[in-house]
Amino acid sequence: MDASKLLNIASEYGTPLYVYDAELIRKQYHELQEAFSGFSHQIHYAMKANENPEILKIIKNLGGGIDAVSPNEIRRALAVGFTKEEIVFTPSCPDFDELSFAFDQGIHVHIGATEYLPFILKNYPDVKIGLRINPGNAIEGNQKIATAHNNSKFGIPINQIDQILDFVGQGLQVDSLHLHTGSDVKSWQDLARSVDAIFDFSKHFSKLKYIDLGSGFKVKYHKTDPDIDLKSYAGYIENKLKTISNPLTIKFEPGKFLVSEAGVLLVKANVVKQGYSKKFVGVNSGFHHLIRPMYYDAYHKIINLSNPSGTTEKYDVVGQLCEEDTFAYDRDLPQVRMGDILAILNAGAYGFSLSSDYNMRDKPKQILVDKDMIKLI
Ligand SMILES: Cc1ncc(COP(=O)(O)O)c(C=O)c1O
Repeated sequence: MDASKLLNIASEYGTPLYVYDAELIRKQYHELQEAFSGFSHQIHYAMKANENPEILKIIKNLGGGIDAVSPNEIRRALAVGFTKEEIVFTPSCPDFDELSFAFDQGIHVHIGATEYLPFILKNYPDVKIGLRINPGNAIEGNQKIATAHNNSKFGIPINQIDQILDFVGQGLQVDSLHLHTGSDVKSWQDLARSVDAIFDFSKHFSKLKYIDLGSGFKVKYHKTDPDIDLKSYAGYIENKLKTISNPLTIKFEPGKFLVSEAGVLLVKANVVKQGYSKKFVGVNSGFHHLIRPMYYDAYHKIINLSNPSGTTEKYDVVGQLCEEDTFAYDRDLPQVRMGDILAILNAGAYGFSLSSDYNMRDKPKQILVDKDMIKLI
């Protein structure tokens, strides 16, 4: 989206403000569909990345499904019009009531601990379930978002297979397997190792309908970040599918790949102040709006929309919370003046959905731009 359009939106709706570009979400969706066109697959948007109903409607209209992680996410997906068959539920450490809620709705559940299996056998003996496994796959990259290594809370360790088969012997019906290697996975080879593990594990189950490979699809936060090699990953899965006789569908649960690049956070420079040695740009935002830089040490590109050709200066871009809420350290930006509008890029995923009203400050508004249409969502 060009700078003048963003500046007009900022002046009409005020800042802080999230702006999403619907066409970019569609482009990303089609890129995944195209990459995986060689085999039967389904895309379930991980709505935790951005749960706005208008974003969900875009995914629905594209033919996608939903990966939900809480009863409220399920309720929202149903309210937007997804059918129960289009939703998978992959909760982390759910209460029994939450599992019952999903089972009673007829929604397919991925179970991430063998400790839940007696409850399921006793109370829902006719329900077919998925098992979320943890292959113990240590990967490169940010360990806060690596979720399939052997110190991770997620999934069932694959060495619990005997316990699982015991439950299967007692009548437990397993019709699918799931794993999620992590978010923003640097190399497709790390994802491929998980594919190996889950296909090996699948040999224990004769009635599988699908394997859900979760996500891991990265986006380029920094210009030096590698692109994800979707083609090689897809080829690897395709070859793997040729090694088994059962025709399985592969599900994916992308979140950030679909919505991250579509979103920017527009903020205003409230103050540009000189410290002892550093110059600070204090913006009308903070980690209550976008926590990724502080929580994950994530890099987000920042653009000075108001003064793109100003002379370059170095700034720490900080928020206005009573905290150390730094968006960027020692960042080169065209000179920032008080009142300038800055765009923080790649903010469509895990931005608003992780926001809060800390310091009793309001959350940002959200705007959807769809070609010529601009609306508050
Ligand atoms: C089970 C599961 N599936 C999918 C995702 C989506 O990951 P990403 O946003 O990196 O695509 C997550 C993210 O935490 C997850 O936990």
